[in-house]
Amino acid sequence: MAVPLFDTRTPLAPLRPRIDAAIAEVLDGQRFILGPNVAAFEDEFAAYLGCAHAIGVANGTDALTIALRALGVGPGDDVVVPSFTFYASAEAIPPTGARPVFCDVDPETMCVTAETVKAALTPRTKAVIAVDLFGNVAPVGEIEALGVPVVEDAAQAAGSRPGPRSAIATYSFFPSKNLGCFGDGGAVVTDDSELADRVRMLRFHGSYDKVTYQHIGYNSRLDEIQAAILRILLPELEGWAEGRRAAAGHYDAAGLGELVTLPRPTEGCRPAWHLYVVRAQGIDELAAGLGDAGVASKVYYRTPVHRQPAMREWGDAQLPVTDELAATHLAIPMSPVLTRAQADEVVAAMRAARREPSSSR
Ligand SMILES: Cc1ncc(COP(=O)(O)O)c(C=O)c1O
Repeated sequence: MAVPLFDTRTPLAPLRPRIDAAIAEVLDGQRFILGPNVAAFEDEFAAYLGCAHAIGVANGTDALTIALRALGVGPGDDVVVPSFTFYASAEAIPPTGARPVFCDVDPETMCVTAETVKAALTPRTKAVIAVDLFGNVAPVGEIEALGVPVVEDAAQAAGSRPGPRSAIATYSFFPSKNLGCFGDGGAVVTDDSELADRVRMLRFHGSYDKVTYQHIGYNSRLDEIQAAILRILLPELEGWAEGRRAAAGHYDAAGLGELVTLPRPTEGCRPAWHLYVVRAQGIDELAAGLGDAGVASKVYYRTPVHRQPAMREWGDAQLPVTDELAATHLAIPMSPVLTRAQADEVVAAMRAARREPSSSR
């Protein structure tokens, strides 16, 4: 039995008639930008998270740039960010005029910690981007206690518990995410009304009233069709998150931890695993062995962000844990509908690959 890396089709199938009807309704209504579905989704997402404001934007990368701008980050500032993350976490910083300063992560949770952030602080640090990597939730409170504002990059952590606790957090609704729409989409969430107003202004060309343009902003809006789809998917998120947690439980019960190192939830966290990323030596051999058995796997961040060509100017940090993780991590199948039988299949394939490394096959 082949096991895909993720399965978005199965959970969406029963919702398809309602999604088709919602898209048709938007087409009939002819309101495509910042209409009733965006407003309603913003209210519903904020209520789901238990926060005061959610503001829809075009994608999770813009959400980060706009959140930083709303905090007042600009030229001459430093923003601390992990290097073991998706490139966009850091790419969002230079457009504000600030400089990314890369920090290391904890080897077991793969998230930043107060210690790794503290080691990267400079006199010019204006903000920290704490990434909730793979669905694990970064220890935001401990980082905020360092006295620097945190933007929580929760792109990979919709449905994880606890939800965002930083002054401002960002989401991506890229199709493969835990809450994914059918194109690009994102949101900024905050309890702070002034920050929320600034985010709304920045997403609409830097204008508060759409008449006077006070700032250089962005054209970055969630569109009505995506919002209409997200309104149908949001009530499913809790169940899907439980499915992801159950899938991790299946792996545990199937004995995966005897073969590779499992990801560790941060303290007090119940991750809705977006990706299930294990650690081992010889990941390429392991991936090849899994592939032979029809089990998909993927190395996500083999070249950490601080070593990417575009980051050369800012990439001189020594990050030993990041380098180690880059060489030893492997994402294996994860989805809200991953069954115990599939977990058994993955573990059996891994056991076989471990017994017979590809050189002897
Ligand atoms: C950790 C992280 N941050 C930011 C982003 C950017 O989101 P988007 O692709 O919606 O711009 C992503 C996802 O792609 C991500 O995984």
